[in-house]
Amino acid sequence: MNDLIPIVNKLQDVFSTIGSDTVDLPQIIVVGSQSSGKSSVLENIVQRDFLPRGNGIVTRRPLVLQLVNIQASEDSKPVEYGEFLHTSDQKFTDFSEIRKEIEAETARVAGQNKGISRSPIHLKIFSPNVLNLTLVDLPGLTKIPIGDQPTDIEKQTRSLQNIQNKCSIILAVSPANVDLVNSESLKLAKQVDSEGKRTIGVLTKLDLMDAGTNALEVLTGRVIPLKLGFIGVVNRSQQDIIGNKPMTEALKAESEFFKRHSAYRSIASRCGTPFLTKILNHILMNHIRERLPDMKARINSLISQTTQELLSYGDPVLDEKTNKGALVLKLITKFSNDFVSSIDGTALDIST
Ligand code: GDP
Ligand code: NA
Ligand code: MG
Repeated sequence: MNDLIPIVNKLQDVFSTIGSDTVDLPQIIVVGSQSSGKSSVLENIVQRDFLPRGNGIVTRRPLVLQLVNIQASEDSKPVEYGEFLHTSDQKFTDFSEIRKEIEAETARVAGQNKGISRSPIHLKIFSPNVLNLTLVDLPGLTKIPIGDQPTDIEKQTRSLQNIQNKCSIILAVSPANVDLVNSESLKLAKQVDSEGKRTIGVLTKLDLMDAGTNALEVLTGRVIPLKLGFIGVVNRSQQDIIGNKPMTEALKAESEFFKRHSAYRSIASRCGTPFLTKILNHILMNHIRERLPDMKARINSLISQTTQELLSYGDPVLDEKTNKGALVLKLITKFSNDFVSSIDGTALDIST
C-alpha cells in the first residue's frame, strides 16, 4: 500500500511536465500565516535544514515536496539526496545547495523583490529518515503589499492556496502564542472544509505560550473539532537557528518538552514531529485509497480523449500539435499503467 504514494508522485511529475491540471491528485497542503512555523515544520519532518529562511515572505513560489523513503546504505554512508524536476538528473547531496537552488529558482521566476509566483518548484528528497509523503509549502497569507508585490497580494496569496481541490488534505499551521480565534489558517480551512473533514491542525510555538497557560484543550479537540485532530509541535527558535542547533538535538528537546510538561505529559505520545509524520503518512495513504476509483476514471478518460484527438489529426504530419498530443499520451499511458495495476491490486482491500 505504501507504494501508492510514489506512484501518485510520478503522476504529479507527469501532469506538471505536460502542464495539465485536469486530474486532481491527493496531496497535503501546508497553510498558515507568515512566520507561523510552516517551513520549520517541513524541515523537522525531513530532519534536514534545506529551506530558505528568514523574516518576512521567504517562500514565494509553491514548493511541491515529495519525500521518498529509501534503504540506508550498508556501509551506513549517508545516502540522502535531493532532485529537482527543473534540473532533471542532478543529485544534490549537499542540502545547503538545495536551499541555494530553491532561492535561485524562486528569484528566476518571481524576481528578487518579494514578488510571488504560482508556478511551483518540484523537489524530491530521498532519505532513509523520511516516510513517503507529498507536501506542498505555499507562500504565507499576506495582507499588506511590500516590494514588488501587487496591490491585490492578499487575494493572490489566498487564491494560491490550492485547497479547493477536494483531493487536498489541509495542514493548518497556527502558532500557539496567538489566540486561535485569529488563526488565518483555520479561517481559510473552514471556508473550504466547513465540516473539518480534511483539515489537520498543527499548533507550533507551544514553548512560547505565556507562563501558566497551555493548549491542552485545543490539542484534545475540545475547542475546535477537526476529524483529523490537532497535533502540537515545538520547532527550533530563531535563536536555535542562529546557533545552528542540530536537527537531532531539536527533536530530542521537543520530545523532552512534552514528556516533562505537566499539562502535556499525559498526551506526550500523541504530540511532536515524529507522531505528526506518522499520522500524515497514514492520512495521505487512506486519502489516496479513497480517491482511487475517481482518479482511475479521470485518467482513463484523459487517455481516451488524447487518443481521439490524435486520431482526429489524421495522417501523422509531425506538426507541433501532433507531437504534443503524442507526448502526453505516451507519458500518461506509461505512468497510469503502473498506477492502474497498483489500484487493481489494492482495490479489494478498501475495507481495511
Ligand atoms: P513560516 O514563515 O510559516 O515558514 O515560518 P518559519 O518556519 O520560517 O518560522 C518563523 C520563525 O518562528 C523562525 O524564526 C522560527 O525559528 C520560529 N519558530 C517556528 N516554530 C517555532 C516553535 O515551535 N518554537 C519557537 N520558539 N520558535 C519557532
Ligand atoms: Na517566514
Ligand atoms: Mg516559509
